[in-house]
Amino acid sequence: MPVKIANRSKLITLLNQALGWELRAQALYAHYAAYVKGLEALTLAEHFEEEATESFGHAKKVRDIIAALDGEAVTTRDGAPIVHTEDVKTMLEEGLKTESKAAATYQKIVPLVKAHPVFYHTIFHILKDETNSVIEMEALLGR
Ligand SMILES: [Fe+2]
Repeated sequence: MPVKIANRSKLITLLNQALGWELRAQALYAHYAAYVKGLEALTLAEHFEEEATESFGHAKKVRDIIAALDGEAVTTRDGAPIVHTEDVKTMLEEGLKTESKAAATYQKIVPLVKAHPVFYHTIFHILKDETNSVIEMEALLGR
């Protein structure tokens, strides 16, 4: 039985936007992990791999909510191009951009799931992770 919730179609649209960002983040971080060079490779490759794994987990949670709402989940990533670079600072800037966009999308989803404790908890937890990632990226950029 699909879950009944107000603003269902608007919610599914936003969840699919978030899913598109997660699918993009997976590809972006997996790509950068392969191209970090030198000393930074010691810590950053692992950090990027963890971010890719986190995005994979977030995508699963978002997809499960869409399915519970009887919606159709997207299977392709957000169309924003992934910048190829071997420059660590550019990688971090791109990571920061993607985390900020994802966090902003989850911020929009939060009020729409307030009446559903399970969805609310899941989305709020993801928003917490995204916000942590923004803070981490800023710290790595020395901000
Ligand atoms: Fe995420």
